[in-house]
Amino acid sequence: MPRDMIAKREKELPASRIGRLLKIAEEDKSIISLGPGEPDFGAPKNVIRSAKKALDRGYTHYSPPVGRAELRGELIRKLKRENGIKAGDENILVTTGSTEGILLALMCLLDDGEGVIIPDPGFLAYKPVVEVLNGLPLPVHLREEDNFQYDTDRMKEIIIPEKTKAIILNTPSNPTGTVFSRKSLEEVADFAVEHNLLVISDEAYEKFVYGGAKHVSIGSMNGMEDRVITLHSISKSYAMAGFRVGFATGPEKVIGAMAKMHVFTTLSAPTIGQVAATEALRSGQRDSERMVREYDRRRRYIYRRVNEMEGFESREPQGAFYLFPRFGFRMKSEKFADLLLSKAKVAVVPGTEFGRFGEGYIRLSYASPYSKIVQAMGRIEKAVKRLK
Ligand SMILES: Cc1ncc(COP(=O)(O)O)c(C=O)c1O
Repeated sequence: MPRDMIAKREKELPASRIGRLLKIAEEDKSIISLGPGEPDFGAPKNVIRSAKKALDRGYTHYSPPVGRAELRGELIRKLKRENGIKAGDENILVTTGSTEGILLALMCLLDDGEGVIIPDPGFLAYKPVVEVLNGLPLPVHLREEDNFQYDTDRMKEIIIPEKTKAIILNTPSNPTGTVFSRKSLEEVADFAVEHNLLVISDEAYEKFVYGGAKHVSIGSMNGMEDRVITLHSISKSYAMAGFRVGFATGPEKVIGAMAKMHVFTTLSAPTIGQVAATEALRSGQRDSERMVREYDRRRRYIYRRVNEMEGFESREPQGAFYLFPRFGFRMKSEKFADLLLSKAKVAVVPGTEFGRFGEGYIRLSYASPYSKIVQAMGRIEKAVKRLK
């Protein structure tokens, strides 16, 4: 095939290492993977039962593009109860995972050359999606000393006035495990108002908060209802990533535009996924809390173990299911991740997968069974001892 059959926009996309890493970890059973970005648990039993029943009853067709009515009803109640967000029918859209929500929001907001402030280190999809849409990613360095939260002074330095449309916010954060404080969110909100920006608030890990930290939705703050597109997902909250259902909530005008676009992207989120999501919102809370308790146990263990090892330092993560330690060995993140893979047989993700300011860090996921994490820590400890 002639090389130029593939569009420039695709050729310019960075190749993701994470896919390769996950493949290696799957093929070589001697490797312990601390790479996963999704829960190791199965979906709640009630959810599986309702999905099976729905299949038997013939729920194998498309759904209305905006989402099934009973799910939308549950979602409106969830937003009020859990997030303090008042939403009507015109403010919500069911998407194919929050991944589609990110894509649709940016497709509907961005004209060519317009800027989007993104976190760095931050979730790896933000930058490529902005670029694919001919937008301009404006990465803001999230510094460890700021507990990896946005610093509005830095945002002021990089914003292109009149040409910047939105800020992407992710709390609890992947890969840093940071939960943005209310104060920090207030600063981001003030910044958005001052510069007339929309905020895309990715809250995929909303349920994963520990040790007294509290998740706050910026969309619930005074005066922000017309500026915030909030993205939620069942993937992490209920261990249902394969059902591919997410939710977008926001101003009627933006949600309407996203709904129009959605007809041309995926038409509707999977019907069976929506039936399962309805059940999860109705009865999955206990299951979700049980999983979060187990994550917390793992979090405390991995945080303690990593900080005990020479050559590592990590802040205590308060959210999501990742530890993002800094390492003190003289090599790049990618090289260090390769070394852990070959010498310790542990798969981790290099910090640079999440942006250039991730250099010097690795991401360890604790969405793996406790016993595997214990084993992996032992292997890493042994491998890095040889490095000194
Ligand atoms: C921060 C963040 N946002 C969004 C997603 C996408 O989740 P989904 O499309 O399954 O809802 C992920 C997945 O890893 C994530 O880490």
